[in-house]
Amino acid sequence: MGYSGEGGLYILGIESSCDDTSAAVVCDRTVLSNVTANQKVHEAYGGVVPELASRAHQQNIIPVVEMALRQAGVAREALSAVAFTRGPGLLGSLLVGTSFAKGFAWALGIPLIGVNHLQAHVLALFLREPDRESRTPSFPFLCLLVSGGNSQIIRVHDYLHMEVIGQTIDDAAGEAFDKCAKVMGLPYPGGPSIDKLAQEGDPGRFPFTKPAIPGLDYSFSGLKTNFLYFLRDRLRENPGFIEENNADLAASLQKTIIDILMHKLVKAARQTRIREIAIAGGVSANSGLRNALQAEAAQRKWNVYIPRIEYTMDNAAMIAITGSFKYLQGDFASQGVVPFARTQL
Ligand code: KG4
Repeated sequence: MGYSGEGGLYILGIESSCDDTSAAVVCDRTVLSNVTANQKVHEAYGGVVPELASRAHQQNIIPVVEMALRQAGVAREALSAVAFTRGPGLLGSLLVGTSFAKGFAWALGIPLIGVNHLQAHVLALFLREPDRESRTPSFPFLCLLVSGGNSQIIRVHDYLHMEVIGQTIDDAAGEAFDKCAKVMGLPYPGGPSIDKLAQEGDPGRFPFTKPAIPGLDYSFSGLKTNFLYFLRDRLRENPGFIEENNADLAASLQKTIIDILMHKLVKAARQTRIREIAIAGGVSANSGLRNALQAEAAQRKWNVYIPRIEYTMDNAAMIAITGSFKYLQGDFASQGVVPFARTQL
């Protein structure tokens, strides 16, 4: 065995909620391996095709698990439990991970643990790596969870006690990045391409719509429509408008999304008087959002926590660490467990 942690709890995590097949071994909070197979097949369609995603998971799951065990140097007999993403996500994709986890746990005679994918994104903040310093938030903290399917502000009371205090009433921030990027002709997923292009653009060039939603909730559908109609009108006057202005368009769009996200996060911090602030989820990889958070932190004396890039995206290490917290509470699933496509925290 390659690593021996404090409690010696070895959890195999399985993630298959969307288009990444991932397996990881985590010992207590330390990541021993985290292997992900991305699915290139969706690029041609400009978005995830659920049926193709399930088929690719079927092909990927066994080699990915074998590689995760090999890289961790952990024999399957040494595993304490198998944790898998139960939802939310694409049902066909979830079924692959769920069925695999059930069979694997049954064969080894070890517990099975169903994990909420959203909770796991937050708990990714507690992952450690061997020989690397890590800072973790103290409770209670606020977490802005921003991904392709979610935009939420969560008050985290404890590892497994989380309260959503604000959320999108329509689209997620990641969807706004992806759909607007698609309109610009950029490859899927659009978030990283917008992020890259934005670094050379003028964020103040094009002012896009910001929603007026009460409380701590978000809305991104108006911005998506505004961006689409703006480009449609400009393209009528000048068919080369997107190519000539792509960096400024990306920078202005990114700034608008970040302003919307940060405005409610600041409001939430003020209302709750919490200054431990974290971000999580795929969109938290965005360099502009990371910079905006750091700038706000310096001004407002917040302590901020940002996961390493590989733990912001969908990954199995976050599923495994959530599994280890649930293991300690004795929160196990039966062989009759079924995945769920939609759920709250
Ligand atoms: O958390 P995630 O991997 O999957 C979901 O559970 O949704 O998030 C994927 C989302 C996509 O919308 C992708 O465009 C976005 O995260 N994303 C980014 C960046 N990297 C990934 N958005 C903006 N800037 C980035 N650098």
